Amino acid sequence: MRQGLEELRRKAIQDIQTAKDSEALNQIRVKVLGKKGSLTTILRGMGALAPEERPVIGELANRIREELESALEEQSRVIAEQEQNARLAREEIDIFLPGRKMKIGHPHPLQLVLEEIEEIFLGMGFTIAEGPEIETDYYNFEALNLPKDHPARDMQDSLYITPEVLLRTHTSPVQVRTMEKLWPNPIRIIAPGRVYRRDALDASHSPMFHQVEGLLVDEGITFGDLKGVLTVFAKKLFGEDRQVRFRPSFFPFTEPSAEVDVSCGCSGKGCRICKGAGWLEILGSGSVNPMVLRMSKYDPDKVSGFAFGMGVERIAILKYGINDIRLFYENDARFLAQF
Ligand code: DAH
Repeated sequence: MRQGLEELRRKAIQDIQTAKDSEALNQIRVKVLGKKGSLTTILRGMGALAPEERPVIGELANRIREELESALEEQSRVIAEQEQNARLAREEIDIFLPGRKMKIGHPHPLQLVLEEIEEIFLGMGFTIAEGPEIETDYYNFEALNLPKDHPARDMQDSLYITPEVLLRTHTSPVQVRTMEKLWPNPIRIIAPGRVYRRDALDASHSPMFHQVEGLLVDEGITFGDLKGVLTVFAKKLFGEDRQVRFRPSFFPFTEPSAEVDVSCGCSGKGCRICKGAGWLEILGSGSVNPMVLRMSKYDPDKVSGFAFGMGVERIAILKYGINDIRLFYENDARFLAQF
């Protein structure tokens, strides 16, 4: 029996010291020291021993139990330490790894152009006015000298909600709203915003686009003031080296009216942007029609003014040489990243 115990001790110590994890240690604990463990099984045979031998073997068995328990404890400390070291090694942070690059967004090209336009006019003392996108027939047409049967209404394919309410086809109604609000004071505003037309989306048309309107009303304003302000604007936006020309045109709300062109960057050599014309049309303008002033209670014998309107998409297309208006609305990051 003593031999059996010694053998058990030797074998158990060896198993304990080579155990790789706490799970294996537990199994050894149960297998040797458990209720049905090998130590218990051997001690069951104590009854067969001579009475004087029993205390000796009993003492030996207790010593072995204590020895094994402290071996288990020692090994479980060793294993815990190994596991901890392994975890620390796994979780080690390499502070010399290059960081992950953050993707940074880009301002939308329309926003860039709009801000540039606003900046130029703010610098000339204009302030920013706004009006609703859902507009009445009165503000969108009537008060701009476009009565119901006026043929010029056909120039703009409108999206009507009711016979009297529509999505504004241009930012010009903000002229009227501003005159009503500021009467009888002088006016110097621009009005940026969205406008809507009954057009199918293609490379050069969109049912929604952006305009910037301008209106200046005061005593003694002449067509020369219009030319001065818009020349400064066009040169600041496209470059001081560009030329500006005023071409006679027609708008019901201005009289006389002019369209403004800037010389193309290709200097007339002929390129895809100006299609060989050498000039780029950038806006419509004119002296405010006395009919329009009168409808908004300003006295055309006392004050005069000028107005202008431009498409933001159109300006961005000309400035950046973009060939498809749809690019502005698709938000393809590869397109946006170029501005
Ligand atoms: N409202 C015109 C359009 O959408 C643009 C325009 C032309 C506005 C002449 C004006 C102007 O204020 O004077 O086509």
